[in-house]
Amino acid sequence: MDIRGLTALITGGASGLGAGAARVLSEAGARCALLDRNVDLAREVAAEIDGLALACDVVDTASIETALAAASAELGVPRIVLNAAGIDVAIRTAGPKGPHSLAEFERVLRVNLTGTFNVARLAAQAMTAEPPLNEDGERGVIVNIASVVAEDGPIGQVAYAASKAGVQGMTLPMARDLAPFGIRVVTVAPGMFETPLASGIPQSWIDAIIPTVPFPRRWGNPLEFGALVRQICENPMLNGEMIRIDGAIRMGIEHS
Ligand SMILES: NC(=O)c1ccc[n+]([C@@H]2O[C@H](COP(=O)([O-])OP(=O)(O)OC[C@H]3O[C@@H](n4cnc5c(N)ncnc54)[C@H](O)[C@@H]3O)[C@@H](O)[C@H]2O)c1
Repeated sequence: MDIRGLTALITGGASGLGAGAARVLSEAGARCALLDRNVDLAREVAAEIDGLALACDVVDTASIETALAAASAELGVPRIVLNAAGIDVAIRTAGPKGPHSLAEFERVLRVNLTGTFNVARLAAQAMTAEPPLNEDGERGVIVNIASVVAEDGPIGQVAYAASKAGVQGMTLPMARDLAPFGIRVVTVAPGMFETPLASGIPQSWIDAIIPTVPFPRRWGNPLEFGALVRQICENPMLNGEMIRIDGAIRMGIEHS
């Protein structure tokens, strides 16, 4: 898909991986709508890339509908959707501090899994009404973010892993559902990327984990993540799968 001139809707676009992808896609000619619950920060990124900042909470359907309508009116119906809004907690299932808070478990699921699905379903519906963009009949692409934690399952990540395994699990059926409309669905599973979310991880754990990245032995940069998102948009054969971008890390049991 030639992304020049297309609208990219990016949730969580104010920060980290979403902002990194917005910079790459905008450099490649896409017009980016940055949806975030932190709209002030989204405005700062939007000002840099000549994009559009919109307040949106992905757990709130009305707020997604309003932001999608505003992005479509201002920039055109999004043909690229990147679900990058996400949160993490580090809590064990049970132990001296008591059982895992059910409210926290549900909060992580609501943002990471239900929020991703809610944006995907509404944006996909809007795309289905648009004309195809090329002779393959392509109408657009939805890129979701899981995590290597979905597969590696470190300690204290039960809620986060469940949410991200859910995103991984949605990938193939969603791609199959949307194939008749020429809409692809790809999930990216990042390893360790240097973002504000990752800065919440205790330093002792970071000191232990980064040396276990086989190569390159360092944090990933959000622009490297953005480069993969660009390739996913441009390469029509990428569909219905989860791609790890992780320097070959396989996490051990410790996380928190
Ligand atoms: N950084 C990493 O190493 C890493 C690794 C694997 C997966 N991920 C995933 O990548 C995604 C982006 O993470 P990041 O590291 O860029 O984090 P980040 O905290 O830098 O950015 C996340 C953005 O999402 C926004 N957000 C959170 N909840 C929201 C909601 N309900 N509605 C709208 N916006 C909301 C935040 O305001 C923030 O701007 C997340 O899904 C995260 O789980 C990150």
